[in-house]
This record gives sequence, structure tokens and C-alpha cells, in this order.
Amino acid sequence: MPRYAITTFGCQMNVHDSERMHEVLRRAGYTESDDPRDADVVVLNTCSVREKAEQKLLSEVGRLAKWKRTHPEMVLVVAGCVAQQEGERLLTRSQGIDLVLGPDNIPELPRLLDDIGLGAPPLVRTVFDLEAPRFLTAHSVAASAPTAYVTIMKGCNERCSFCIVPYTRGPERYRPSAEIVAEIAGLVSAGVREVTLLGQTVNSYRDPSSELPRAPGASPDDPDESEFAALLRRIAAEVPGLARLRYTSPHPRHLTPSLIEAHVELSVLARHVHLPVQSGSDRILKRMIRRYTRAEYVARVGSLVARLPDLSLSTDIIVGFPGETEDDFAATLSLVREVGFRGLFGFKYSQRPYTPARKLADDVPEAEKSERLARLFEVSEELLGAHLQRLVGSRQRVLVEGAGKEGTEAWSGRTERNEIVHVTGAEALDLRGTIVEVVITRANKHSLQAELSDEARASAKPLPAATVEAPKPRAAGERRSLPIVAMGGG
Ligand code: SAH
Ligand code: F3S
Repeated sequence: MPRYAITTFGCQMNVHDSERMHEVLRRAGYTESDDPRDADVVVLNTCSVREKAEQKLLSEVGRLAKWKRTHPEMVLVVAGCVAQQEGERLLTRSQGIDLVLGPDNIPELPRLLDDIGLGAPPLVRTVFDLEAPRFLTAHSVAASAPTAYVTIMKGCNERCSFCIVPYTRGPERYRPSAEIVAEIAGLVSAGVREVTLLGQTVNSYRDPSSELPRAPGASPDDPDESEFAALLRRIAAEVPGLARLRYTSPHPRHLTPSLIEAHVELSVLARHVHLPVQSGSDRILKRMIRRYTRAEYVARVGSLVARLPDLSLSTDIIVGFPGETEDDFAATLSLVREVGFRGLFGFKYSQRPYTPARKLADDVPEAEKSERLARLFEVSEELLGAHLQRLVGSRQRVLVEGAGKEGTEAWSGRTERNEIVHVTGAEALDLRGTIVEVVITRANKHSLQAELSDEARASAKPLPAATVEAPKPRAAGERRSLPIVAMGGG
């Protein structure tokens, strides 16, 4: 049987796309190889959101191309956003690539590999499925992890001036709500406890099959309203076995009253929202074409938190956008404090091809960008540290995702608010996929340490004898969800 290996760069969409590629290849008779050097087909699923990510890909292609000189039978596939962005050009830029595959063309992968096997020259397939959008459904029989992603929409109709995603992922296309519900129900029967709905602006969702009733709180006159809240309600009603529901990433514009109402009423929704803000300066937000002001952002999250005071917020921020002055950056820092974000992905602005911001001079020096990023992380670490410290001694409910960091024997999982919790003193118990009550014993820099409550310990199952030494290591394809704090750079 031919063997394949997939390396994934970038965001959750890519992690999800890679999972679909695994399935498509397995069903076509391929088996997975841990080491790309033993594989007949090597797929690099790429990211182009920042230049650094793209450079990483090119150096990886270079490495593999060198290997290929002595192993000419290996087939090298470049998929994902760099594939979509560069298309044909990739074949001339990097030697050794056999197939360039866009994110919408994943279902065609086995057929294209067959063509290459029959001697076809290098192929490029990067066509958006605009007429009949395809969403691949997970075919899990037994879930490899207690958490899973489900795509509800793809593409993006916003035109944030820095962002290449509308170019690499195309315009917005939505998946019928019945199909989404069916996939989630299937995952839950396979053992999944928590689902994260995925989309570039996940909360702009509209049901193409028009099957959803208007959600409470939704005003027909509000141009920012969507059918996302109605979708959340349908999932909650029709998949009662689902323990937790998350979504990423929403756009602040669509954090409307109906979505706030859904958060208040649906207990399945986690108490955490990742809501990218990008900057705290109105001048910069305008140049970024984000289509909200700082005050509007603050008001929207304010009305959510007023109804749900224990909800955690995290965000994405870009530092060093063209024209960002020290005052603009100070406004960002003050916004981070004002909102009290407990998690933050920070990025240095990186000029991307085809983006409107290319017309603006990338005028903040690299050293200044690095310095601002460091100051941003300092503030976010301080906020997170104080928050974690306040939780010491409290009881929390943790969905145990799997074994902790390599070398430690703790189980680890997340609270509803997305704090990472390592559970110690439970090595002999089988906690995987269960929601357990814990008592927080210590705050680490980015996570919490905890012990099982007496009640949770009394009702936990022991691990089967053969696996008592340590919780199982992560299975292939298993992934961890968004960390509450990330130190993304460049
Ligand atoms: N809506 C998408 C956003 C995709 S890009 C989502 O669901 O996550 C993820 C983040 O990368 C953005 O929120 C932004 O903070 C950052 N980013 C995008 N383009 C960038 C660029 N050119 N330079 C630096 N950071 C960028
Ligand atoms: Fe990018 Fe803005 Fe869409 S960040 S993905 S263009 S919402």
C-alpha cells in the first residue's frame, strides 16, 4: 500500500483541511507514514498569511527537493494557501513539486495522484468551487480525540487591507445547516465531546437552504445580523449529546444581539470568545478596513460580558501596521487593559501580495515592531497571570483532552473559559474525554495545575492495567485547541 505524510502549517482551517486530506487518502488505499522520508506521497499544507510562514514552506520544499534527487519516485504535493496564491508560479519557483493543490480541490487529490502515477507532468489544480461549494464531512467511526473542528463556511467577504485570505480562500460560501448538524451528530456518536465551528468570519453564517427560523434578538433591519445564532440554537437542540460548543473566528461586526442572546441561553456554548480586534486605534482600524471603531468593539463585548460576567475574551492583534505611531500602539495597549483579554495572538505586520495595504509604505522598522510585540505580550501575560492566580483554590470543570506535556504524567484539558489545566495525581485513572471537577492548586505562567475533586476521583474509571504507566500519547491527527495565550511572532 502506498504511504503518505502530511505536514501542516498555519491556522485551524489548515489543520482541518489536513484531517480531510488524511481521510481522502486513507479511503483511497494510502497508509500514513510518520516520517516523510519513508512516504511515497508527501503533502505540505501551507500558510501564506505572513511572509515568515511562506518562507518556512519554501525552505521545506527545498529540503524535500534535495531528498527527491536521490528518491525520484517520491511525489511532492504543495497544498493550502501558498498553493492557491502562487499556482503555476510555484512550479518555476521551486523544483521538485509534482502537484499544486488549492484548498477547494482536496477531494480530487487521489485522482490527481493517480494521473501523476501514470506519468502526467507536474499538475496545478487551484479552482474555487464557487458554483457548487463542497464541504468534506468527517467520517470518524471512533474519534481519535474528544475535540473536533467542523467547517460551517469558507472564504471571506471582508477586505481587511492587510489580509491575503480573501484572495487565497475566495468569497464566502456557507454549508447547509442540516449537513452541519448531521456531521456534529456523527462526531458525537463517535465519541467527540467538544466541537469548534470553523469559518473565516464564522458568525456571518447564513443557511443556504433557508431552513433556520429567526433567532431571538435578531432584528431584520440590522445589516450585521446573520443566521449564526439560529444555527447555534439548532445544533444545541438537535445534538443534545454535545458537551461543549465553540467557534472561531467571529468578526466583531457580527457580534449582534441575537448572538449575545444565544450565549446567555445555550449552556452548551463555552464561556470563551476569541474576537480579533487587530488594533485599539481608530485611525489604524480605519486603514485596516476593519469596519468598526474602538468604541463599537468595546460596546459589543461590553454587552456580552454584562450578561455573562465570567466569560473570557481573547483576541488577535497586529503591531507595526503601516503608519502606526507610538500613540496608536499605546491605544492598543490601553484597549487590551480595558477589555482585559485573557489570551492574545500578537503578530508583526507583514506585507502580503495582492492586499490593499501593499499601497501603504511598510514604514515601522522591524526592531520597532519587535519591541511593540514584546510590550504587548508583557501586558497580556500580566493580565493572564493575574486571572490565573485568582482561580487558585476554585473548583472548575475540565474537559480532559489527553495526556499532558511529554515527560509529565498529568492529564490535561480545558475549562469552559479555555484555561489550560493539568490534572495531577490521576495517572492511574482513565479521564480521557470526560468532564471532571477539579480543584485548582497552582497557577503556572500560561496554565493551571489541579487535582481531582473527591467526588470526581470517586467516580473516575481506572485505566486498563496495560496502560497504567502513563496516559496515552497523542494519536496521529489529534490536535490541541486554541491556547489561551499564544506568543505568535513575525
Ligand atoms: N478571520 C480569520 C483571520 C485569518 S488571519 C480567522 O478566522 O482566524 C489570522 C490573524 O492573522 C488575523 O486575525 C491577523 O491578526 C493576523 N494577520 C493576518 N494578515 C496579517 C498580516 N499581513 N500581517 C500580520 N498579521 C496578519
Ligand atoms: Fe482576513 Fe479580515 Fe477576512 S482578517 S479573513 S479579511 S475578516
